[in-house]
Amino acid sequence: MRVTIFGTGYVGLVTGTCLADVGHDVVCVDIDQAKVEGLNRGVIPIYEPGLEPMVKANHAAGRLHFTTDAAAGIVHGDLIFIAVGTPPDEDGSADLRYVLAVASTIGRHIERPVVVVNKSTVPVGTADKVQATIARELENRGVQVAFDVASNPEFLKEGDAVNDCMRPDRIVIGASNQVAVEKLKRLYAPFNRNHERIVVMDLRSAELTKYAANAMLATKISFMNEIANIAEKVGADVEMVRHGIGSDPRIGWHFIYPGAGYGGSCFPKDVQALSRTAQQHGYSARLLDAVEEVNDSQKGHLFELIQRHYDGDIRGKTFAVWGLAFKPNTDDMREAPSRKLLAQLWAAGARVRAYDPEAGEEAQRIFGEREDLVLCDSARAALVDADALVVVTEWKQFRSPDFIRVRQALADGVIFDGRNLYHPDEVEAADLAYYGIGRGRSI
Ligand code: UGA
Repeated sequence: MRVTIFGTGYVGLVTGTCLADVGHDVVCVDIDQAKVEGLNRGVIPIYEPGLEPMVKANHAAGRLHFTTDAAAGIVHGDLIFIAVGTPPDEDGSADLRYVLAVASTIGRHIERPVVVVNKSTVPVGTADKVQATIARELENRGVQVAFDVASNPEFLKEGDAVNDCMRPDRIVIGASNQVAVEKLKRLYAPFNRNHERIVVMDLRSAELTKYAANAMLATKISFMNEIANIAEKVGADVEMVRHGIGSDPRIGWHFIYPGAGYGGSCFPKDVQALSRTAQQHGYSARLLDAVEEVNDSQKGHLFELIQRHYDGDIRGKTFAVWGLAFKPNTDDMREAPSRKLLAQLWAAGARVRAYDPEAGEEAQRIFGEREDLVLCDSARAALVDADALVVVTEWKQFRSPDFIRVRQALADGVIFDGRNLYHPDEVEAADLAYYGIGRGRSI
């Protein structure tokens, strides 16, 4: 099928590439000329495992094209996806400016029946706005073209996006008529083998499904972080508790890892936006607001542990920081807990030597040159001349360090483990003090 995708961010690029990979003819449109030129030369703007070879292969095979020419893109597609950003505006609502700008462009250029598919995470009711925007442009042109608007939210995880896209656990299609449903079913048929993954529903339910999924996952994390904080107070170990509850299939093993708080471009924004949507409809989403509040304070928890250890005085201390990205396998630092931690360390007069396997460049871009930050090119280099180690992101390569070496490198011999990667006994056996999240027994 002929597919056009507006937006070559992480959602648009991964979706377009996977659709091309199963044989569809895909045109990706972006207004950023440098990005489009780069993509045409095989330069991938994000780090996402497995994506680069797939983009290159499908581009070379002539199934995946990148252009800034919106009109040509619109002429190409039977299905036109909107996958542009919906950043939070000042009050936390999703800013629909980019989505509606694409809708206008579509309305100005369509010549034949199309299905317009919303893939961006958008508040309930946005499909109606997209519909109205396109209809208005058609009216201005004085032409009549049949079009449908569908909602097809994405459930890709950064770092595992290609896999999530190629082997989805569900494909949600929100539509108001059968034409759109049938076209989308045909598009996704290659991803729907062996058992039925497609769930068809009305537009508003599909839009809400996306928020409900992310809000539920964020709730699990904040819940576990709260249990961790209680564990710390009562002298229990949340890792034991996690093992004790995860085997109950009603609870499950996923997303019950306590840590330094959730970050990324989705959970913080989506929890806030859903709460604002509820508010706009006269409902106060108290649970969602609490999830957000617990997360904000959790991002400061590592710093609290550090302050506690040093009796509130860390001026002149140097902290090795392992991990800056908001999670492993990405270079994304949006809303990353590391950002709050570094700001707090600096404000208290400490210095940082940081290492992240992928986010070094991003950190350089965000923080610029400053004399209290050294970005190192290995985990070991970050330990040089450091007083203590703080682990913020659970990259695989941080999982089994040589604790004897770590002890030799750190002047104060203390590890703050923001992801509970280590067993306290093992760390303490190397004569290191250990602080984890919710590990009351060791404090
Ligand atoms: C999330 C969802 O998992 C995807 O299904 C969704 O499609 C995506 O948002 C989106 O809306 O686009 P992502 O933000 O890439 O994906 O990352 P996650 O793997 O979900 O992790 C989010 C944050 O939660 C990370 O900071 C991670 O460290 C934290 N987390 C996760 C925990 O603190 N504990 C856990 O047990 C799990």
